[in-house]
Amino acid sequence: MTVSVRVATPGDASALEALIDIATRTLLPAFLSPEEIEASLELMTVDRLLIEDGTYFIAEQGGAPVASGGWGRRREYVTAPGAALRGQELLDPSREPARVRAMYTHPDYARRGLGRLILRTCEDAARKAGFADAELLATLGGEPLYLAEGWHEIERTFVGTSRGIDVPAVRMGKRLAP
Ligand SMILES: CC(C)(COP(=O)(O)OP(=O)(O)OC[C@H]1O[C@@H](n2cnc3c(N)ncnc32)[C@H](O)[C@@H]1OP(=O)(O)O)[C@@H](O)C(=O)NCCC(=O)NCCS
Repeated sequence: MTVSVRVATPGDASALEALIDIATRTLLPAFLSPEEIEASLELMTVDRLLIEDGTYFIAEQGGAPVASGGWGRRREYVTAPGAALRGQELLDPSREPARVRAMYTHPDYARRGLGRLILRTCEDAARKAGFADAELLATLGGEPLYLAEGWHEIERTFVGTSRGIDVPAVRMGKRLAP
């Protein structure tokens, strides 16, 4: 498998939307109920600000997107409805953790190390930008990947949705500085 990783551009938005949809619908049923998955989809939209910031990565094989993930220098953890109006403040790398966001692998390519590849790419980029720590809000489906990559649980929590369904999630952290 020859996979290349590049920074996503605004022109990738619709391909990223399709990737999010198929990854969520196919890989999350092992971890969440059908109602929780439908509710999750409202939280899992393409974050255009992450693309504008140049911190959204896309892995491709033969020109087709097979995985994605990004890191954020802004406060928001997920792109919830209304998020465009809040949570966009820049984080201070000297005292605040970078965010890791938008990790999705196409189901046809799951468990081939692409999540790991993108995650390490994000961690390296955040480290280079001066962040000593990183945090993320994991789905229950993402948690095993992060645990395998040295992340630790901070708290188990829920994310509210407009459907009135609270989706379980895990806030996790990792030290990036040597
Ligand atoms: C989470 C996700 C991105 C992982 O992508 P992936 O490319 O399959 O992950 P990798 O192949 O790099 O996995 C690396 C390691 O993580 C762990 N891991 C990943 N997925 C796992 C799973 N479903 N069950 C158990 N362990 C898992 C394993 O230790 C794995 O190593 P191994 O395959 O050698 O055992 C993918 O499952 C996904 O898109 N899920 C749906 C969307 C989602 O919930 N994203 C997370 C948002 S926080």
